[in-house]
Amino acid sequence: MAKGKAKTVYEYDDDHYLIEFRDDITAFDSVKHDIVGGKGYYNCQISAKLFEILEENGIKTHFVKLLEPNKMLVKKVEIIPLEVIVRNIATGSIVRNYPFKEGMVFERPIVMLDYKDDAYHDPLMNDDMILAMGLVNEEELKQIKEIALKVNDVLKGYFESIGILLPDFKIEIGKDKEGNLLVADEISPDSCRLWDAKTKKSLDKDNYRFDKGDVLAGYKEVYRRMFG
Ligand code: C5P
Repeated sequence: MAKGKAKTVYEYDDDHYLIEFRDDITAFDSVKHDIVGGKGYYNCQISAKLFEILEENGIKTHFVKLLEPNKMLVKKVEIIPLEVIVRNIATGSIVRNYPFKEGMVFERPIVMLDYKDDAYHDPLMNDDMILAMGLVNEEELKQIKEIALKVNDVLKGYFESIGILLPDFKIEIGKDKEGNLLVADEISPDSCRLWDAKTKKSLDKDNYRFDKGDVLAGYKEVYRRMFG
């Protein structure tokens, strides 16, 4: 059993884990932490459907099936400790740390790979650093970037079809026993920025991070648009 900030991963059998989506919500390396009743359910359901959509579009994921409303069965993978971030619109840390203006639309999506380690505050890595640390090899690094852009195309198109903009998101990639790279972890309003296309209001975790509004209401709205 491995308890993360918002999910708990249980051993299921030789080839599978069970992931429980909890109601915990955290931000800024857990400096902020709260419980939001129902959040685990929404994130699990939203993640499951987004993994299915990726699979339908030929992208391999760890998702197998839902076992309970807030628990999913996934293939066992070894998570590569990189936060694979894709950005379509400038907001968040890229605006705080680099000379990009809030709201700038990137014609060419920007892929950023952060090292997943709270002690270092998830620093941005470049290719040479990633290879020097032996996190992946050159071929895998190329594949990770390709997967990231493919996931972006699929998710951006899907969200647009339900009136939601996807300014950026984070995915994690895992490696299975055969060495295949699969999209793993979760894809939810915890890990994606999702804006109402008309009002540009956040429907994601930014409502919690920056006390901008009712975080659960945003997640429910994403769910409503996804499930009708
Ligand atoms: O904060 P920042 O602008 O770098 O976040 C970029 C994207 O990555 C956002 O969609 C955010 O939700 C996601 N992210 C994440 N987990 C982190 C850092 C960022 O899901 N630890």
